[in-house]
Amino acid sequence: MHVPVLSKESIELLRPRPGNVFIDCTLGAGGHARLILERIAPNGRLLAVDRDAAAVEAARAALADVDPPPTFVQGDFGDLARLAQEAGVTAAHGVLFDLGVSSVQLDDPERGFSFRHDGPLDMRMDRQGRVSAARVVNELPERELAAVIRHLGEERWAVRVAKFVVARRPLHSTRELAGAVEAAIPRAAWPADIHPATRTFQAIRMHVNDELGALERGLRGALEVVRPGGRIAVIAFHSLEDRLVKSFFLAESRDCQCPPEQPVCTCGHRASVRILTRKPVRPSDEEVAANPRSRSARLRVAEKL
Ligand SMILES: C[S@@+](CC[C@H](N)C(=O)[O-])C[C@H]1O[C@@H](n2cnc3c(N)ncnc32)[C@H](O)[C@@H]1O
Repeated sequence: MHVPVLSKESIELLRPRPGNVFIDCTLGAGGHARLILERIAPNGRLLAVDRDAAAVEAARAALADVDPPPTFVQGDFGDLARLAQEAGVTAAHGVLFDLGVSSVQLDDPERGFSFRHDGPLDMRMDRQGRVSAARVVNELPERELAAVIRHLGEERWAVRVAKFVVARRPLHSTRELAGAVEAAIPRAAWPADIHPATRTFQAIRMHVNDELGALERGLRGALEVVRPGGRIAVIAFHSLEDRLVKSFFLAESRDCQCPPEQPVCTCGHRASVRILTRKPVRPSDEEVAANPRSRSARLRVAEKL
């Protein structure tokens, strides 16, 4: 089961009200969507997007009792402006991104997201996607693979991990990949709090799904579709995503984006948001105790000017 993270805090900051128009860019199991739908009833509208067709179908069934029902769309939030336009959604009061994968995806061995289960090396959120984890692991040149693992996994053993993976090609399963990582990192250097393959799996998943690229495009799309006074909320689960969100909001909250050493502004940029969370909102101790997956969550919210 997937338990929505920072749900109270994100809903409080997004302030959905009866009659509002909202977009949930990461429908997942529909936890946040339900909370929004309850608050925008009776005549509000929710556009509910997920890249994963199976998630959309499961959420459609889970939300069958909710009135009004959302408009469900299977798609990449990187295309948010187009998806919203096609659904006839303009001037939204709020947009939510709850990033990463859901527990439903992680717990299904067939999806290949987790080293905890043996499954095929897939990791595609959209199963129509061209690039699977097997292709990345088996076809990327060693140097590129090391760069992906270092950059997207922030793994300092990336060069050795890539070397061990390449030596064991072809790899077919998540267990084989986890085994290569375990062999590459000396046992004394295994992290105390996470499995040694965590960072490598994160990196390959992010590469397979172009997660940072989608996030950057999705945030731009959200700025286009949200009305003045409307809010954009993002829940990130690791530092790369959170840094991207932080710097995007910061840059958009400033009038000028010229380099600081430049005496006169030539960019002509005008601030388009006000940041509502100077510091990211973190889950309470109670939430972390009840749902350990929330441990690393950080919520940032900005309001369109
Ligand atoms: C953490 S879960 C969301 C859980 C949801 N908020 C809930 O309460 O059940 C993230 C979901 O976002 C989807 N997702 C991730 N990146 C996406 C993207 N670029 N476009 C659309 N959906 C995406 C994943 O498929 C997954 O179902």
